[in-house]
Amino acid sequence: MKASVRYNYGPVESVQVLDIPIPEPKPNEIRINVMATTVNRTDLGVLTGKPYLMRAFAGFPKPKVPVTGTDFAGVVDKIGDGVKDFKVGDRVWGFGDNGIGTHAEYVCFSTERNILKIPDGIDFHKIVACAEAAHYAYNFLNKVKLEPGNHVLVNGGTGAIGSAAVQLLKTKGITVTAVCHSIDVDKVKALGADRVIALEKVDFTQEKMAYDFVFDAVGKSRFSLCKPILKPKGIYISSELGPNWENLTFALSTPIFGDKKVIFPIPLNILESMNYVQQLVLSGQFTPLIDDRTFSLDEAKAAFSYVASGKKIGNVILRIG
Ligand SMILES: NC(=O)c1ccc[n+]([C@@H]2O[C@H](COP(=O)([O-])OP(=O)(O)OC[C@H]3O[C@@H](n4cnc5c(N)ncnc54)[C@H](OP(=O)(O)O)[C@@H]3O)[C@@H](O)[C@H]2O)c1
Repeated sequence: MKASVRYNYGPVESVQVLDIPIPEPKPNEIRINVMATTVNRTDLGVLTGKPYLMRAFAGFPKPKVPVTGTDFAGVVDKIGDGVKDFKVGDRVWGFGDNGIGTHAEYVCFSTERNILKIPDGIDFHKIVACAEAAHYAYNFLNKVKLEPGNHVLVNGGTGAIGSAAVQLLKTKGITVTAVCHSIDVDKVKALGADRVIALEKVDFTQEKMAYDFVFDAVGKSRFSLCKPILKPKGIYISSELGPNWENLTFALSTPIFGDKKVIFPIPLNILESMNYVQQLVLSGQFTPLIDDRTFSLDEAKAAFSYVASGKKIGNVILRIG
């Protein structure tokens, strides 16, 4: 089978598309004929092994799984011993944030991990774009007590995480102000944001506004800059560790000192996120933002370069089946 492979942590240039043996499912595993996957920021972290902490989970000194990829949507084509709840022909999707080798024509995955059947009427591209970023967005939001009427700023409304966060917040009756480049304002409005700030025109940290929460979904701002626009007891959450991992330090110190806090969320329980977002897709309340650019498996390296450029809009699909 064809697969995007690298045997050591390295740059985007280390990605190669090779012919490797089709894997055989072990007990309690199913084999999936992958139809679609994404190339995302987590894939980039698992590819490069950076931040270095990533290697504690993805493998040390080498990646545990040479095939790249963290999410999949596809069709079950073989069942391992002991599998009861899945059968050949089932449409399934799944996610494993430490790298599970999904940038390939086939992948084997334990049925005891983060896997769901795809409900009728949802296509492979749409559901696979609900895995990585929506999981992180959900895990930002479930770390705080959101109440209807709260006002939240999402920095990076066109990002995969930011675009998911805007939609998840709107389902809870939250007033959302989102920040993006001026060219993308209409896209972010279409996600449901109440107000969209074009970052070339307005520095959101200098406005006379007061937010209950600032979700820095692209990790481009800082707590020190956002503090003045937070209400008393307001909370700043970033998707990045920040310079010198300051967001981790602040997450430890600000709950003790000061009335405005930083939370650095640890995104656990992937299956809970998948179930939650899938229900919202079924009820028409969540549609993942998908980049106009899609790539074939042969173009895996180009897809990684594009994601590394920081210029993607939402989720980047790698077409396989
Ligand atoms: N903490 C975690 O567990 C975790 C997990 C996954 C990812 N991450 C991190 O989360 C961040 C977001 O990931 P993602 O996949 O959502 O990002 P992404 O999709 O790569 O975000 C890129 C988007 O953000 C926009 N953007 C760039 N600079 C901006 C700025 N200063 N203000 C507002 N928007 C800006 C870009 O717009 P233009 O194209 O117009 O520049 C682009 O549309 C990444 O830094 C990633 O490393 C963290």
